[in-house]
Amino acid sequence: MKIQVYKDYSLKARNTFGVDAKAAIFVEYNSVKELKDLILNGTITTPCLHIGAGSNLLFTSDYKGTILHSCIKGIEVIGEDDEVVSVRVGSGVVWDDFVAYCVEHGWYGAENLSLIPGEVGASAVQNIGAYGVEVKDLISSVETINLSGKECVFRTNECEYVYRGSLFKRPEMKQTFVTYVNYSLSKKAHYCLDYGTIRQEIEKYPSITLKTVRQLIIDIRRKKLPDPEELGNAGSFFINPIVPNAQFGALQKVYKDIPHYKLNSEQVKIPAGWLIEQCGWKGKSLGPVAVYDKQALVLVNKGGATGADVVALSEAIQNSVRVKFGIDIYPEVNFVS
Ligand code: EPU
Repeated sequence: MKIQVYKDYSLKARNTFGVDAKAAIFVEYNSVKELKDLILNGTITTPCLHIGAGSNLLFTSDYKGTILHSCIKGIEVIGEDDEVVSVRVGSGVVWDDFVAYCVEHGWYGAENLSLIPGEVGASAVQNIGAYGVEVKDLISSVETINLSGKECVFRTNECEYVYRGSLFKRPEMKQTFVTYVNYSLSKKAHYCLDYGTIRQEIEKYPSITLKTVRQLIIDIRRKKLPDPEELGNAGSFFINPIVPNAQFGALQKVYKDIPHYKLNSEQVKIPAGWLIEQCGWKGKSLGPVAVYDKQALVLVNKGGATGADVVALSEAIQNSVRVKFGIDIYPEVNFVS
């Protein structure tokens, strides 16, 4: 495939919400060299935005600049010993294909992140996480190139990883594009089964192996989360809020069963899905957008929704949660205009 440059390009198939916005220019490249050529020959002008599979994006209007997408593929072992394997993966590799590859090869670490939509490049930007694992724990370094054509490798400790965030999400890093992500995976069996009811649920499977843990995670996700192919959505719409102990203590007096996760001696994380459900939004719609009936953290496009329709429901939910609980919740999904 050669470099593709499109004008007035429909982004409908490029965002899992299925919002029909347009990009003035859309560019797809296959290698670092191609990206460098595009930068140096002036094809990529600002404003520009690099996207992955569009699984964490909401286009709130047409995009007047250039949207870039990486088709850099390849999973390459770059080092290994008896315990650890180091793998270099192209930013355009589908994340779950990489997880499947790890499981097939007997590499431990990524299995709890099975079926997360999106691509490898975005995994490192977003610090994707699920079922007790965050991708930052597997990343050894991130290879990038910026709009001046400068290549730079960031070691994990330079990436400023936090819950669903990284250095790469900073506004001044928007013109730094991930080309490859290097991961370290374990060749020795070790599982992370302490999230929620995972340990109990794995008992229903014949044995604990990489394949069965992957299968369990896939089964849980399929039960709780809508398939974007069938119902447009971007996974968790909101980030779970983190509140100080005192505020949590006051809430717990009123809501005895409030689910929570103690982060440290001062802070508690509360599931936004629970807060939204308590406000009565689960399964409810506002125009063509609804709160998913099996998981209140997910907003779904019932068909033909615009970005503005999604924003309207998102703001209505934020207001309800603020009024009922005194807590501000914020989107995990990135709004693009
Ligand atoms: N809950 C409700 N009602 C709901 C949804 C959740 O009461 O409608 C309660 C559940 O009963 C449970 C608690 O909230 O006690 C936590 O729910 P769950 O385990 O489903 O996790 P979550 O906080 O809703 C987070 C991630 C998910 C990830 C799961 C599993 C965020 C924003 N979301 O969801 O990530 O799959 O944990 O680890 O941190 C994503 O990022 O797109 C995503 C799906």
